[in-house]
Amino acid sequence: MSVDTPTIPVRCVPQSRISELDFNNIEFGKIFADHMLVADYKNGAWQTPEIVPYGNMSLSPATSALHYGQAIFEGMKAYKNAEGDILLFRALDNFRRLNISADRMCIPELPEEIFMQGLEQLLRLDAAWVPPTPGCALYIRPFIFATDDFIGVRPSSNYRFVIFSCPVGAYYGQPLRVAIEPNYVRSAEGGAGYAKAAGNYGAALYPARKMQERGYHQLIWTDALEHKYIEESGTMNLMFVIDGKLVTPSVSTTILAGITRDSVLQIARDKGIPVEERKVSVDEIAQAHKAGKLQEAFGTGTAATIAQIATIHVNGEDLDLPAVEDRQISLSIAEELERIKTGQAPDPHNWIQKI
Ligand code: COI
Repeated sequence: MSVDTPTIPVRCVPQSRISELDFNNIEFGKIFADHMLVADYKNGAWQTPEIVPYGNMSLSPATSALHYGQAIFEGMKAYKNAEGDILLFRALDNFRRLNISADRMCIPELPEEIFMQGLEQLLRLDAAWVPPTPGCALYIRPFIFATDDFIGVRPSSNYRFVIFSCPVGAYYGQPLRVAIEPNYVRSAEGGAGYAKAAGNYGAALYPARKMQERGYHQLIWTDALEHKYIEESGTMNLMFVIDGKLVTPSVSTTILAGITRDSVLQIARDKGIPVEERKVSVDEIAQAHKAGKLQEAFGTGTAATIAQIATIHVNGEDLDLPAVEDRQISLSIAEELERIKTGQAPDPHNWIQKI
């Protein structure tokens, strides 16, 4: 699907920086495409967006997002097909989730046309930045933050919406060692865990660093009440293959409703793989491993895509999982997902928008 977009005012870069990019060696999140979209909210309304050269923004030291964290973001990806067309993956779902986060954080709802038309025009302008390289994509980061220069604690009256992008390769370079988090909490019932709020990530850094100091790449969050049930990992939702079934914690107010998570479950159902969305206890994982029934474990996320888990630290013990190359379910789903995203397989659920 390609939509004709009304033209948003554009200020182009005098000279592209694309020659700085080595398409065969793309590090995650370090080099940014030439342009960004900016729209401000003031006087009770979102203003006409503008596309401008990617660059620093000037902010008051009193900018309220910097103090009280009224800020939300999204992550999505665009790919190139064999003909060189840009294929945008499930952007409308990211737009809807952004507004769910906005509602929770008292940020005014963003109109669909600012997000979708702005995004389409930005992608056309920066088309050369979408890597054609297998396994790579253009990672797109929309975000909104409160811009009042005011030190009192209350929802801001002014906001800025920005979309910028960066070509990326793999987020995780190898199968992960993860550990169950028995003490710290990411999110509790009634909190903002389901929102993609900046503060959720900031508050997770300290427990994640402590786990990294113990030799694990990431931690697995457990429920705030009993530390008994598995929730999600630092940057991803979690999935397990137990005795041939794909099992994942159901989304709730404490877990982010991942779009990659949803895509993986849909592909699994399409393939006839049994799927269970339910509570998953730490004990169930330990017992399944002991019984030889824990066949696969992986994370899902836009940045992480499908990130294989090699080892899970549970109750003082490192549980090693079967070799990644033997993981038929996750490997076949990952391959199908990549084929859909890059236009090599049919798109039965209309996830792709050709730009
Ligand atoms: C994503 O997967 O897009 C995320 O936002 C997770 C992380 C990079 C913050």
